Amino acid sequence: MAGSPPIKRKRTQAERADIHDLYQRAVQEVDAEIDFVDREFSRIRKRRASLLREDFCGTANTSCEWVRRRRGNRAVGVDLCSATLAWGVANNLSRLRPSERERVTLLNRNVLDPGPAGRGVDAALAMNFSYWVFRTREQLRAYFGAVRRSLAKDGLFFLDFYSGPDSLRITRERRPLRGFTYIWDQAQYDALTGDYVCHIHFSFPDGSRIRNAFTYHWRLWTLPEIRELLSEAGFTRSIVYLEGDDGKGGGNGVFAPAEVGENCPAWLAYIVAEK
Ligand SMILES: C[S@@+](CC[C@H](N)C(=O)[O-])C[C@H]1O[C@@H](n2cnc3c(N)ncnc32)[C@H](O)[C@@H]1O
Repeated sequence: MAGSPPIKRKRTQAERADIHDLYQRAVQEVDAEIDFVDREFSRIRKRRASLLREDFCGTANTSCEWVRRRRGNRAVGVDLCSATLAWGVANNLSRLRPSERERVTLLNRNVLDPGPAGRGVDAALAMNFSYWVFRTREQLRAYFGAVRRSLAKDGLFFLDFYSGPDSLRITRERRPLRGFTYIWDQAQYDALTGDYVCHIHFSFPDGSRIRNAFTYHWRLWTLPEIRELLSEAGFTRSIVYLEGDDGKGGGNGVFAPAEVGENCPAWLAYIVAEK
């Protein structure tokens, strides 16, 4: 018996979207990040960095930007998630020229033990607060110690940092972008332990959504704790670069060394630690 043909439902924008692509467009600014790393390394060490390790590299977007910058640049990306690394190979490394691609090495490993291919690096990077995955002083000190041991003699460690009273609030921030809205969800904060659960959601003009595209189980650290642990792990000095403000309550993307910090509602910083 002939039935009526199945009605083909049009897929929603959420169903057609790719969470890694959305993440890169909403969260990352790899050119600005690499501008900062390249400039500050040259300023502090009076030479140019060439070997960079991107810890928690995910899709290795930053590593790709690094090798695009100069012919002598090499990058090593380290991440535990093989599926995310594979996405990076298919979508980011594939866009590099062959001469650039051969200068990227991806390691499917724990950052606590990057192995021989991750040693002797000029600059190690831990960005987008990924190192907050280590939730005790012992774990974070062990990670910082592993980074320090894997740096070249004059190597530098670059981290980013987020704080301010707003970071403690259970709140959602929505940022409309081209074709979708990025939603940063500070979902849980345990005042006793500092445990912090955040999600990234995406919503689309057709009303569809991707809930919990990414979830992070972190500890919300303070900046003095991070600097103390860097020092305990053997780093000789840490410099804090605070972001300037745009006069409208937001950041201006310019990071400058600071000795004192104003208690803004929310603020971003880079930390550079010297071996
Ligand atoms: C927030 S993403 C960071 C992506 C990218 N680095 C950025 O700046 O946006 C965190 C990544 O860290 C990885 N990760 C978490 N713990 C790890 C560990 N101990 N060793 C290596 N990678 C880890 C996850 O697989 C995930 O891809």
